[in-house]
Amino acid sequence: MGITRRNLTKGIVLLSTALAVAPFGALYKYLSVPAPTIKLTRTKIANRKDVPPGESLRFNFPLKDRPAVLIHMVPGEYKYGDYRQGSKTKAVNIDEFVAYDSICTHLGCPTSWKGSEKDMASPCHGGAFSAIDGTVLKGPPLRPVPKIKLEIDASGDIYAVGYESGLPLFGLESVIFEPV
Ligand code: FES
Repeated sequence: MGITRRNLTKGIVLLSTALAVAPFGALYKYLSVPAPTIKLTRTKIANRKDVPPGESLRFNFPLKDRPAVLIHMVPGEYKYGDYRQGSKTKAVNIDEFVAYDSICTHLGCPTSWKGSEKDMASPCHGGAFSAIDGTVLKGPPLRPVPKIKLEIDASGDIYAVGYESGLPLFGLESVIFEPV
């Protein structure tokens, strides 16, 4: 039996369709890959006495190469709240420890604690973040830096145990973090 014109046309249509949808199949397969998951572990940062009032300590969390900062806040006035809506000021009345991811949410420069300004400053384009809640005090960053949840035991040892706010981490947007 010879190939009829109708069968030939049908074959060409089927082949064209298969070629057209093939990339979508690959894309679907790619998109179906589950997001990477990282199980958070309770991580000792330091003891209270290791960080004098008003100073900070660098550490890594939740990965060995992910910079974060522990800040020993002293009583005083601290700014918070997105600068685009108008930052406010809050009085901190007791010594308090807070910790944040150190990667700036603008383009990923490492921030550092500036005791004189009482904020976390990015060296690249002038961005700054609040020590109260990680909100953006100075642009160009558009979103806060993630605030790390801390636990302090009776001996004064300070642990990072997860995140309070601000996820995802810059550069790791697709990663899901499982709680401790
Ligand atoms: S990378 Fe921080 S302000 Fe641009």
